[in-house]
Amino acid sequence: MLAEMREAFGASETGIAAVVAEPIRSNCHVPPDGLWAEVRDLCNRHGALLIFDEIPSGLGKTGRFFAFEHVGAIPDAVVLGKALGGGVLPIAAVIADARLDIAPELDLGHYTHEKNPLTTRAALTMIEIVERDGLVGRAVELERRIRSRIAALASEVPAILGVRGCGLLLAIEFDPAAFGMKPGPAFAGHLVSRCFELGLSTTSKGPASIGFSLPMTVTDAELELCFERLERVAAVPPC
Ligand SMILES: Cc1ncc(COP(=O)(O)O)c(C=O)c1O
Repeated sequence: MLAEMREAFGASETGIAAVVAEPIRSNCHVPPDGLWAEVRDLCNRHGALLIFDEIPSGLGKTGRFFAFEHVGAIPDAVVLGKALGGGVLPIAAVIADARLDIAPELDLGHYTHEKNPLTTRAALTMIEIVERDGLVGRAVELERRIRSRIAALASEVPAILGVRGCGLLLAIEFDPAAFGMKPGPAFAGHLVSRCFELGLSTTSKGPASIGFSLPMTVTDAELELCFERLERVAAVPPC
C-alpha cells in the first residue's frame, strides 16, 4: 500500500489534497507497525491532509479513546459517528485542527436536522458515560478475556483458528475445511446465518471470519452468552 501511495503522490500533477482512511480497519485488520507514521510523513512532504475515519473504531472501541492513538500518527482531522449517538441516535462529528477553520465568515450549512440539540446532547452524554464508567479501560480488559477464551477454544475446536483485531473491534477466524467448505462469501454467509439462528447478530469480516465486535457496555453475563453461542456455531457440522 505504501508503495502505491508513494507512486500516486509522485505521479499526481495537480497534487493530492488529502488521504482519507481508517487508521484501524473495521474489518479488524490491524495495520503493520509504522505504516501510518510513514503515510503521515508522506502527507507532510506533499502538503496533503491526513483525515482518519474513526466512525467504527473511535470513542474507545479499540482500547484507546481514538484509534489513531495506536498507530503513531496524528491526523489533521478525525471523523466520528455510530457510537457517538450511543449506537441509536444519528449524529456524526468532525474534529479538525484549528488551522483548517479557514472560512468561519461563510457560515456554511443550514440543513433541517443540523445542529440538533437532542442528538448533540446524546453525544455529549455518551462521551461522559465512556469517561465516567471507564469504558476505554473496560475494552482493554474485555479484549484480554476474549483473546484468552478464544485461544482456549481454538485449541479444543478445529473450526476456530483465532481472533484478530484490536480492543473490542475483533473478528473470529474460522477454518472452512472443518465445515467441509471453502473460504468465500458462501462460507462467511453460512457462519453469519448460523449465528443469527442462535441469536447472535453479526456480519462477515472476510471470506472466513465474522465480527465479534461487542459494545463496550456488554455485561459479563452477555459476554458469556456470546461465548456459549459461538461454541455452538463452531460445533455445528456443514449445512
Ligand atoms: C469506515 C466507515 N466510515 C463511514 C461509515 C458510514 O457511516 P454512516 O452509515 O453513519 O454514514 C461506515 C459505516 O459502516 C464505515 O464503516
